[in-house]
Amino acid sequence: MSDIAIVPAPRELTVDEGRWVTADPVADAVRDVVENLDATEYRIDIGTDGARLTAGSEDALRHAETTYAQLVEAAEDAGDGQVAVPLAHVADAPRFGWRGMMLDVARHFMPKEFVRNVIDVLALHRLNVLHFHLTDDQGWRVEIEAYPRLTEVGAWREHTMVGKMSHGQTEFTYDGIRHGGFYTKDDLREIVAYAAERGITVVPEIDLPGHMQAAIAAYPELGNHPDQQLTVRPYWGISEDVLNVNDATVEFVKTVLREVLDIFPSPYVHLGGDECPSVQWAESDAAQKRQAELGLGEPGQLQGWFTAQVAEVLAEQGRRLVGWDEMVETDCPKDAVIMAWRSAERGVVAAKAGHEVVMAPCESVYFDYYQGDPATEPLAIGGNITLEKVYDFEVIPAALSEAEQELIIGTQCQIWTEYMEGPEQVGYMLLPRLSAFAERAWGSPKVSYDEFLGRLRPHLKRIEKLGVNYRPLDS
Ligand code: ACM
Repeated sequence: MSDIAIVPAPRELTVDEGRWVTADPVADAVRDVVENLDATEYRIDIGTDGARLTAGSEDALRHAETTYAQLVEAAEDAGDGQVAVPLAHVADAPRFGWRGMMLDVARHFMPKEFVRNVIDVLALHRLNVLHFHLTDDQGWRVEIEAYPRLTEVGAWREHTMVGKMSHGQTEFTYDGIRHGGFYTKDDLREIVAYAAERGITVVPEIDLPGHMQAAIAAYPELGNHPDQQLTVRPYWGISEDVLNVNDATVEFVKTVLREVLDIFPSPYVHLGGDECPSVQWAESDAAQKRQAELGLGEPGQLQGWFTAQVAEVLAEQGRRLVGWDEMVETDCPKDAVIMAWRSAERGVVAAKAGHEVVMAPCESVYFDYYQGDPATEPLAIGGNITLEKVYDFEVIPAALSEAEQELIIGTQCQIWTEYMEGPEQVGYMLLPRLSAFAERAWGSPKVSYDEFLGRLRPHLKRIEKLGVNYRPLDS
């Protein structure tokens, strides 16, 4: 028999003496959605006469199935085609409603088959949000019928810088390889449906008004220098080429968003808001005129105005705006959900300003950071977040009062793909750090890192079965 190794660990698990002997524990279990459990709660009860899975909703029943499948792996062979399943009771529910992972498919395009693999990985870990970073300076990945050049032009870059980008670098060596790709609306609907069948919401991100160089390369009239033809950016870093704040650009973005909302039924839609330099607005007559008309003190405040304009499309359809934490500083709508990324402290600031917050701090859950000695690891963006550090992540910052803690609706890990060319590299950076992250997102009891490693070792075989790469454990 193998030991019981459920990842993420359920909130409560008890194991009794004895066994349930059965030919097929999965087929022979009884399942019920019941009214006396909360929508997120489930129970598993295995007695000598059978197994019963009960849950407060279909979503919770799916979690029960995932846990149960991991539990019955511990069954022993009982001869005669029968197995002996340990008697166990599970009482479980997630701590957080938003248990997410962000996948950046803009820096490197990922085939849709791999996106499905990622969704399988999320489902295995009882996570429920795939935040899909679909656009950035280096590529536009979503088909928009009103503006075909967004993908005809914006989905392709002529080549990509080689090596690690350093601060202020202006000269690059390129790989000479055209890179790109995009998802058709049908592809995306397929991904959305595949995720929904597994209880996962796909939250699209159209990052604006910065991180828009690919769109401006496709439609120069969106930029602050419409007379200049930009390229889709072939290197990393932050582009100063941001959207202009003209009415026509607001309308353009609204049209794009209407098409995006039509593909993604998610109640949440992410409009970026990170890293938006305002130098071009400070130099632009049109932006200066707009700033004066609106009575804004700083060009940077145009970002809040712009976001509020285009977010009307979300409000029309009852969708919630989500944005990176810079949004808090730009007079964003008060009901925006803030994704704290620059530090956990940014989550404190957002919660104290009354926003709901998803904790995604770079110091803890940026899986583009190194996870071991940079001398022996594949090239990464920097930092160092070991598996153990993820295991030790505290989602809720200590500085929040009890009332403010209620505003932390969840947590999310990030895969930015500047230095990940494809599925193999993404798998290596994602796993098994995501397994440790899932424990914190779910609210698994924290016994010890060694206890976690004991469950993780057999769990890695499950990841292998999904055909996804991972970084082997150090020992
Ligand atoms: C971010 O990492 N720029 C959100």
